[in-house]
Amino acid sequence: MKLPARVTICEVGTRDGFQIEPDFIPTEQKVEAANLLAAAGVERIEVTSFVHPKVVPQLADAEAVMAGIRRRPGTRYAALVPNDKGAVRAVDAGVDVIHTVLSASESHNLANVNMTIAESIEKLRAVMRVAERAKTPVGCGVSTSFGCPFEGDVPLAQLESVVRRLVDIGARAIGLADTTGMANPRQVGRVFEHLMPRFPGIEWTLHTHDTRAMAIPNILAAMEYGVTHLDASIGGLGGCPFAPGASGNVCTEDLVHCLSAMGIDTGIDLDRLIAASRRVQEIVGRTLPGQIVKAGTFTRRYPVPDTVAARLSAARA
Ligand code: COA
Ligand code: ZN
Repeated sequence: MKLPARVTICEVGTRDGFQIEPDFIPTEQKVEAANLLAAAGVERIEVTSFVHPKVVPQLADAEAVMAGIRRRPGTRYAALVPNDKGAVRAVDAGVDVIHTVLSASESHNLANVNMTIAESIEKLRAVMRVAERAKTPVGCGVSTSFGCPFEGDVPLAQLESVVRRLVDIGARAIGLADTTGMANPRQVGRVFEHLMPRFPGIEWTLHTHDTRAMAIPNILAAMEYGVTHLDASIGGLGGCPFAPGASGNVCTEDLVHCLSAMGIDTGIDLDRLIAASRRVQEIVGRTLPGQIVKAGTFTRRYPVPDTVAARLSAARA
C-alpha cells in the first residue's frame, strides 16, 4: 500500500453527531466535548451548524457554543452552513472556516435543504461572497457523492458536474461525503482517480459514514489516491436527519488507532482521544459504536492463565 505519512482529521461529532441525538445536549456539554477534542490535538473541528433552528433544533445553540469554546492554538474551528444567512451567522460567531452543504443528488438536496441543486449553488455563491468579505476560508461538502438513499447510484458525471459548479463559484477545498455508507473502496478509488486530475489544486476531504462497515476500507482507498483530509466522529456518533438509514461516521479514535498502528501521523494523542470518547458517551448517555474504547488498543496484553504459565516455564526451561 502506498499511503501518505500524515493526514489531517476533522472531528465532526459535535455537528454530524449531536445534530441527530434525540435529546438536546446542553450547551456546556457541547462546549466541553469540543474542548476535550481540541486538547487531544485534533487540528480541525466542525463545531456546529448555522442552519434553520426549527429544522435542526439540536444545534439551535450554535452561537452560544462558538462563544463558549476555549480556542486552542493549532485547532481550526469550523461550522456547517447551507446558505448566506448561515454564513453571516457563522462569521459573526467567529468561525475560522465555513463548511457548506449541498448534495450530488436532487432528491437528497431537496430533502436536506429544501432547494434544487441549482438553487443551492446560487445560495453558495452568496456564501462565497460573505466568506470573501470576512476573509474566512470555505470548504464545500458534497453529500450523497457515492450514492443516494432515494435515487441509488449517483453517476460520476453528475458528481463531476456538481464539483465543477462548486469550483466555478470559487471552491478550493471539497469534501466528498458518503452520507449513508453506500460507497465501497474500489468505487472510492475510481471517483478520486477520475476527479483529482480534472480539478488540480483542490484540497480533497473524504467524509464517511460506517453504516455498512466500509468506512475505514474506503478511507484507505482514498488515501492510496493521495487524499490526506478525513472527517471522523468521536465514538462513531453521527447521521443525517434527512437521509433515511443514515448512521454514525467513521469513529475518530478507531481511525486514529488504525492509522497510528500503520505509523501514519495525525497529530492526535490517542489516549486523550479515548478519554474524550468516554466522556462523550456519558454526555449522550449510551454506548457508542467505537470499538477501541471497548477492546483497548492493539498493544493491550492480558495476564497468562496460571495453567498456561506453569507449562510455559516448563517449556522454556
Ligand atoms: N439560519 C437561521 N435561519 C435561517 C437560515 C439559517 N441558516 N436560513 C434561512 N433561515 C430563515 C429565514 O430567515 C426565514 O425566516 P423567516 O421565516 O423568519 O423570514 C426562514 O428561515 C425561511 O427561509 P428559507 O430560505 O425559505 O428557508 P427554508 O425554510 O427553505 O429552509 C434551510 C432552508 C436550508 C434553511 C433549511 O432547510 C435548513 O436549515 N437545512 C439544514 C439541514 C441540515 O442541517 N441537515 C443536516 C446537515 S447534512
Ligand atoms: Zn455526515
